[in-house]
Amino acid sequence: MAGAPLRRRLLLPLALLAAAAAASCAAAAKAPRLSPNYYRRSCPRVERIVSDVIAAKQRANPSTAAGTLRLFFHDCFVNGCDASVLVSPLSSDASPERAAEINLSLPGDAFDAVDRAKAALEAACPGVVSCADILALAARDLVGILGGPRFPVALGRRDARRSDARDVEGNLPRTNMSARAMARLFASKGITPREMVALAGAHTVGFSHCGEFAHRIYGYRGAGGHDPRLNPEFALALQRSCAGYRSDPTVSIFNDIVTPRDFDEAYYKNLPRGLGLLASDAALWEYPPTRVFAERYAGNRTAFFEDFAAAMQRLGAVGVKTGRQGVVRRRCDALD
Ligand code: HEM
Ligand SMILES: *[C@@H]1O[C@H](CO)[C@@H](O)[C@H](O)[C@H]1NC(C)=O
Ligand SMILES: *[C@@H]1O[C@H](CO)[C@@H](O)[C@H](O)[C@H]1NC(C)=O
Ligand SMILES: *[C@@H]1O[C@H](CO)[C@@H](O)[C@H](O)[C@H]1NC(C)=O
Repeated sequence: MAGAPLRRRLLLPLALLAAAAAASCAAAAKAPRLSPNYYRRSCPRVERIVSDVIAAKQRANPSTAAGTLRLFFHDCFVNGCDASVLVSPLSSDASPERAAEINLSLPGDAFDAVDRAKAALEAACPGVVSCADILALAARDLVGILGGPRFPVALGRRDARRSDARDVEGNLPRTNMSARAMARLFASKGITPREMVALAGAHTVGFSHCGEFAHRIYGYRGAGGHDPRLNPEFALALQRSCAGYRSDPTVSIFNDIVTPRDFDEAYYKNLPRGLGLLASDAALWEYPPTRVFAERYAGNRTAFFEDFAAAMQRLGAVGVKTGRQGVVRRRCDALD
């Protein structure tokens, strides 16, 4: 008896909430949401198992961190965070996403890191933890290892049953895009300009191959023979370092030449000094709606870390498959 009024009072707001949720995302209404406790009963040590494997891999191969961070981004932007990017072209007759990205040279150590974590998890809790969740956890762990922010990762992503090279085109930003075009692409994934600028701060670590910015330093019409947005001494150093890149396309340059291995705000400090390596980095500084955030992060590491952590959680929710969508793959590098 005493419970009835309480229940009625509770029910009304709940009904309103449900109606609002249904109206705002009718299509996704049935899919359960990600949760930090998703594997609490089925694989309680999942985070510890992933972090141990990933930390060991990073110690052995220090390029793992940047590669994995980039892999996570690409996974989420092409058909959602569903591990479709991990499928090896060797594992199937069809051409998976990874085949379209050969020029983007997705890094082998990052794939290996996920495969190792998956092997450890299949031993501990067979058939339970998705490859998509492993990639999200690995990216988070590695940001922390490099000195960046630590943040929670909601879990419960399911893995794709397909991976198609044709899905890549149009879903990833290219270095020749304007900041406005990049903002439009990110918006199509539910990511704001502020979150986009924070995520681009990932270019505080890792490398780019010379081919990705060669157009800025060779055969450039105009004074100095390089993109005028580049610091002249930096441009000269790049011209020298990349001189052989056509015969050896593996030549690559640190994205952040000041503190290449630290996850810090140096990426933003570099931009006004003409030390942004990619044309897309320079573009973020030129476009006022994105520049405001780059300026803020350049002067305030705390602001960058807070926003990066929030933006990574948003990125990790893009297009996720949950509940009865997708599968938990037995292998991350194959569809079966
Ligand atoms: C905003 C638009 C973006 C563009 C145009 C872009 C483009 C690129 C390009 C061309 C490279 C060089 C790849 C290579 O030569 O191997 C690169 C590297 C990288 N990108 Fe981005 N990217 C963008 C945003 C992001 C975001 C949002 C993240 C992650 C949150 C990210 C993480 C990375 C990392 C960590 C590397 C270094 C990879 C390594 O060392 O293996 N990028 N990016
Ligand atoms: C890869 O690069 C080669 C040579 O630069 C180019 O001909 C080819 O079109 C590129 N492929 C893709 C998928 O971008
Ligand atoms: C950007 O480069 C891609 C190839 O990497 C090309 O297909 C596209 O047309 C270019 N876009 C612009 C605006 O130049
Ligand atoms: C830096 O950003 C943080 C978080 O947004 C804020 O609380 C702090 O006041 C900022 N510091 C300065 C010096 O602006």
